[in-house]
Amino acid sequence: MNEQERKQQAQINAEDNFERIKQTSSEEMITKYFHTNYTPQTPDIKKARKRRKEEVQFKYDFSIPEDMQTAGEGRKFLIRTYGCQMNEHDTEVMAGIFMEMGYTATEDVNEADIILLNTCAIRENAENKVFGEIGHLKPLKLENPDLIIGVCGCMSQEESVVDRILKKHQHIDLIFGTHNIHRLPHLIKEAMFGKEMVVEVWSTEGDIIENLPKARKGKIKAWVNIMYGCDKFCTYCIVPMTRGKERSRRPEDIIQEVRHLVAQGYKEVTLLGQNVNAYGKDFDDLDYTFGDLMNDIHKIDIPRVRFTTSHPRDFDDHLIDVLAQGGNLLDHIHLPVQSGSSEILKKMNRKYTREAYLELVRKIKKAIPNVTLTTDIIVGFPNETDEQFEETMTLMEEVGFEAAYTFIYSPREGTPAARKKDDVPEDVKKQRLYRLNELVNKQSAESMRKYEGKTVKVLVEGESKKNPDILAGYTEKNKLVNFKGPRSTIGQIVEVEITEAKTWSLDGIMAESKIEVK
Ligand code: 5AD
Ligand code: SF4
Repeated sequence: MNEQERKQQAQINAEDNFERIKQTSSEEMITKYFHTNYTPQTPDIKKARKRRKEEVQFKYDFSIPEDMQTAGEGRKFLIRTYGCQMNEHDTEVMAGIFMEMGYTATEDVNEADIILLNTCAIRENAENKVFGEIGHLKPLKLENPDLIIGVCGCMSQEESVVDRILKKHQHIDLIFGTHNIHRLPHLIKEAMFGKEMVVEVWSTEGDIIENLPKARKGKIKAWVNIMYGCDKFCTYCIVPMTRGKERSRRPEDIIQEVRHLVAQGYKEVTLLGQNVNAYGKDFDDLDYTFGDLMNDIHKIDIPRVRFTTSHPRDFDDHLIDVLAQGGNLLDHIHLPVQSGSSEILKKMNRKYTREAYLELVRKIKKAIPNVTLTTDIIVGFPNETDEQFEETMTLMEEVGFEAAYTFIYSPREGTPAARKKDDVPEDVKKQRLYRLNELVNKQSAESMRKYEGKTVKVLVEGESKKNPDILAGYTEKNKLVNFKGPRSTIGQIVEVEITEAKTWSLDGIMAESKIEVK
């Protein structure tokens, strides 16, 4: 068969396949059309809620199966990432796996041989975006039947999502979950050679696979996972179901990864976890906490160390003492509060009160006087009263947060809060979000103004998004700075004199060159 004939045959196969899938209900599809040696594994949210006692195994033996080692030669992959840093980092891992199979990366959907959507389930609008994209990709699949389209990430852990894709989006070839990333080579093989949609979603977390490849996005800043999963079960949140139970990586593996990044010239690491300061709580054989880990990383010769996200409940005195040493441990703490009302916090199962949060803030400010605090806030939790919302407004001011990610509560199927009746009208929720954002903007602008005339240290990341003649980077407190300076400073930490503060960024001149930003 020549190339032309092969393409025609592939087109015929795909069209046949399409026709058959279109006429099949999802149940039928699961039972009838998966090949005999392949069993689909769909998610089960009840199973995902359960916390098992089984010990987590640490595995160091990941490898690409022999028959897939060159599967990507001459082929291109594209991964669209939605959601948090954890997903960004999972994308780096998947990109690493693709590259080990010989694939190269592309940004162009038209030249991709495989497209993955690495999805986020945290709010409904995140999911709507993904379903929109799934729809947009359909014509591409009809044009190019060899194209593999996959859905992974948090949405694939949801029963309702997988069901909807099986029923309505038969052009999807592959669905796999957050615990199945290391299975990517096998799953691609199934999707390439099988004729049916491949679904592999484990509802309970598996082992920690240590030696997965990573194709990191940049050469200056790097994400380092320190733990996976969440056991907090805030009543609004889907994450404990999509990411499984809390599992910490061994300290020596994390430290080795950070040392390796230093050797490669990275200047900043961000330690990642759904709940980083619960780190180590799951060790049976080791008395080692997040504070201990930070203390050990403090001694490594990397200029900047950040972490996200921490939970107020696990923010202990030892951690505060360690952070107070400063040095490479930066004085910016993202500490999600979610609400300023103790009653709402109780309903959210946050396990702290307004007063306890404020007391923690007082302790942190005493130990780290120059600290910058930022937060996450949800407005319009079911039945939130005006008074309860006002408490969030006063807390925002009292703490003096310099930035906040703010959200309208979004009911997530399978979470306790989603079962509650809610008497707060949507326009009231919107109005609350608007008022809160006004306050956030005001506090951010005020915090920025304090820098006018001051000199700050900036890790230069590259050209600014809007103007290639301007460089951009971040201060220790994570403020974006735009300034004119030589490109040779990219990847270095330089001193910049701030000339003008905007609401969300600073303009400046590099202290040495004194070239002003226009
Ligand atoms: N609705 C709105 N916001 C949510 N978040 C988590 N779950 C929901 C939800 N169901 C927010 C929290 C969390 C951030 C990552 O997303 O503020 O800290
Ligand atoms: Fe969700 Fe709460 Fe866990 Fe954060 S701590 S991931 S909000 S359940």
